[in-house]
Amino acid sequence: MDHLIGLLLGTEQDWPRAYETLIARLGPIRGPDGTSHTLRTTRVTIEPFNLRDTPAHDLVIDRLAYWYYHPREWLKKVALMDDVYLLNSPFTFQSMEKHAAYCAMMRLGLHVPETVLVPYKNPVDHTKWAYTAERYNRPFDLDAVADGLGYPLFMKPFDGGAWVGVSRITDSAQLHAAYDASGARLMHLQQSVEGYDVFTRSLSVGPETMVMKFRPELPMHERYAVEHGFLDATAGDEVVTISRLVNAFFRWEFNSCECLVRDGVVHPIDYANACPDVALTSLHYYFPWAMTALLRWTAFCVVTGRRPSLDMDTARYFAIADAAHLSYPEKLAEYRRLADDYFTVDAYREFCDTALAHVPALVAEWVASPGFDALLVDTVRATYPPAEHDRFVAHFRGLIDLWRRENPA
Ligand SMILES: Nc1ncnc2c1ncn2[C@@H]1O[C@H](COP(=O)(O)OP(=O)(O)OP(=O)(O)O)[C@@H](O)[C@H]1O
Ligand SMILES: [Mg+2]
Repeated sequence: MDHLIGLLLGTEQDWPRAYETLIARLGPIRGPDGTSHTLRTTRVTIEPFNLRDTPAHDLVIDRLAYWYYHPREWLKKVALMDDVYLLNSPFTFQSMEKHAAYCAMMRLGLHVPETVLVPYKNPVDHTKWAYTAERYNRPFDLDAVADGLGYPLFMKPFDGGAWVGVSRITDSAQLHAAYDASGARLMHLQQSVEGYDVFTRSLSVGPETMVMKFRPELPMHERYAVEHGFLDATAGDEVVTISRLVNAFFRWEFNSCECLVRDGVVHPIDYANACPDVALTSLHYYFPWAMTALLRWTAFCVVTGRRPSLDMDTARYFAIADAAHLSYPEKLAEYRRLADDYFTVDAYREFCDTALAHVPALVAEWVASPGFDALLVDTVRATYPPAEHDRFVAHFRGLIDLWRRENPA
């Protein structure tokens, strides 16, 4: 059987090239029932489509539709009518704003910092709204809200990304200035997790999760530290569980999750990214891992005929959340069981060990090849000004060499 994987892309070139190269080298894959499967990739183009057209794709990796509506509607069509498997489904975008994810994870008992949603500073300019606002918009005391949370706190958009509109606030004057500047953007006020021991950012693809130590104060190419063993086993497992739980709960396949760990307590603060950063220049050492995960999970989905599932199944999670006799670690273990079950972790591992047993060597060989180095050099040239090319090529080559020493071809 032949399977076509579509890439719906914005401006990225690095990981698509990597992924396309690896898929082209993958060769025939044997399914659990003994049938033989081949995989091909194609880049999705934007053009008129009849709603009754049948797409050629089995699976689409989407990096565009969060922002661009024509392909978003095409994705909805192929999901509803043709069972195309999506990383991620646009039907889950509504919860990709932070707000819904905070609510759900609070309900599940996770240690999400206290958070308040305040009304718009400048409400939508609309005559009907003016009428409503006059009658129903309650005046409120912003200082009292902030005092209830305590300083310092964070003000950030309820649906934000890329730090746009995020500010750390230490007093009332800053609070009012930030709120006045928020204009027509809807804002959360959130307690700050001060003095955390570790900032973790985990990247997940289906059942695969890499927990990385993140340093938000550094420039992008240095934010992911190459460090292992920065969490004890319990906290490490909790971060993995939370990442998988969030994804299983919302039916996200490809996402990143940020948790702040302080005194052994894991506080998730940001875990809804329709389009997580997988740039070679951000992930560097972890880039081969990310490409391997993407390759293996997408191959597993198309070869085993995994069916997309959009029904949220929230009741099973809430039943655990509401079970008074369960402690927090017991609840986490139950959530993990549901999440592992959703991502069919055991079947996936088995598939990786048998049908995809050749993948680690294939990736290692490719990372050692001139083709990979050309990708690295092209990506640096496309990302940084000419004066910095040599420095960054050397920097990323060094990190990739480290990965190669640990993963010999
Ligand atoms: N409650 C909090 N406690 C401590 N630090 C926080 C908190 N909320 C946000 N921050 C800091 O502010 C940064 C940006 O916040 P957040 O991740 O919520 O916004 P974002 O716009 O989604 O950013 P990005 O897209 O880079 O993830 C975080 O990386 C963290 O350094
Ligand atoms: Mg963030």
